[in-house]
Amino acid sequence: MPRPRTVHRCRECGATSPRWLGRCPECDAWGTLVEVGDRPAPAPGIVVPEGEGPLPIAEVEPLGVAARPTGIGELDRVLGGGLVPGSVTLLGGEPGMGKSTLLLQALGRLADAGARCLLVTAEESREQVRLRAERIGALVPGLLLAADTSLALVLAHVDSAAPDVLAVDSIQAVVDPDQPGAAGSVAQVRDCAQRLVRLAKERALTTLLVGHVTKEGTLAGPRVLEHVVDTVVSFDGDRHHSLRLVHALKHRFGPTHELGLFEMGSTGLTGVPDASALFLADRRPGTAGSVVAPVLEGARPLLVEVQALVAPHDVPMPRRAAQGLDGGRLSMLLAVLEQRAGVGVARADVFASVAGGVRVTEAGVDLAVALGVAGARLGAAVDPGTVVLGELGLGGEVRQVPQATRRLAEAARLGFNRALAPPSTPAVAGIEVVPVADLDAALAAGLRPATSPRAVA
Ligand code: TYD
Ligand code: MG
Repeated sequence: MPRPRTVHRCRECGATSPRWLGRCPECDAWGTLVEVGDRPAPAPGIVVPEGEGPLPIAEVEPLGVAARPTGIGELDRVLGGGLVPGSVTLLGGEPGMGKSTLLLQALGRLADAGARCLLVTAEESREQVRLRAERIGALVPGLLLAADTSLALVLAHVDSAAPDVLAVDSIQAVVDPDQPGAAGSVAQVRDCAQRLVRLAKERALTTLLVGHVTKEGTLAGPRVLEHVVDTVVSFDGDRHHSLRLVHALKHRFGPTHELGLFEMGSTGLTGVPDASALFLADRRPGTAGSVVAPVLEGARPLLVEVQALVAPHDVPMPRRAAQGLDGGRLSMLLAVLEQRAGVGVARADVFASVAGGVRVTEAGVDLAVALGVAGARLGAAVDPGTVVLGELGLGGEVRQVPQATRRLAEAARLGFNRALAPPSTPAVAGIEVVPVADLDAALAAGLRPATSPRAVA
């Protein structure tokens, strides 16, 4: 008979490992793994019960449950239609991003549509939540409110109220006194969430959990919870900006690439259906350093304004700052500009940003950034009716980007009529595509003297 193997469990987060390790692979804590006894070998003579053996995949019953729309269009877009009964969705994000607000708005709509909703507020008082509900129009009869932090009480409330939808704000503030650790510790958060996930599955209870993440994304909670829940919806945005970007990071029932856009106003979060128009609203066409780029946010083409400012002065360590863009990528583009196109930026402070608080991580914005920086350096602007698209290689070559047609169609919709794009780009109605094979060609075709002298560096 094989020797039973010992198991080691992390005292912090409860992760197990067959071997002893100095550092927990799950929560990265040092020296927390302790031996917790033997893991039994599979017992001999186990018989699979009748009808529970493996099935041909096509004979498995389909799920057959429709997602329930939350009634908030931008959120439903992210969720691929709505909330699936019995699913557990985590709303994660930094404090102040609007998780509690959107949750309350969604519950208000769901209750309005006839669902029995229970919100357990573990951080705020019922009075505070009521005040917020008044602001955002969520004072509806079908929405029940309880203020508690004990997991047992949350379960008891579900028993007595029998809701269709349960929301807990936040999971970090809920504690199970029977478990070790303080409220918010990794072990507590995970145990409480696991219990709520079990409850959701047992009762087909649609469940929403709020979880805070710090800037570093390290706080106990969401990272640990991602494995436990079905769907993770993340809230991003600049605290000083009203725009909020909502993504599904994980989604067992639908797409993960859709972007939802909201604006935080005096009556809560409002969907922004025409994001491109919003991002371009304050643009001053003809400004040196300003370039419009059609980027992709998930499946959604979006026009953003890239802005650059170059301040030449003879210091050995000039400053480089990127906002809404990848800093490392900016450094690379500056090197390509200097080496391949002879645009002198080595001894200049360079600032590049995407206007409106959106963050662009794809390489399709490369050429726009390069043209922005070159324009700012040379006092030249891109024609106001032109968009710029393409990835830049280290050799200065312009490379193709995915879904160019959809991006250019969005540009045409907003009235742009010309695009600098990689040579392979197909024709798009309403847009003259100027194929540019390399950076030199793009600079020659794209820049002309700026009309707005204030922005010339
Ligand atoms: P909140 O939903 O409490 O954020 P989170 O739960 O993610 O921490 O709201 C965040 C901010 O939004 C808060 O500072 C106040 C502001 N706010 C508005 O501007 N308008 C509103 O209608 C509401 C409800 C909040
Ligand atoms: Mg909150």
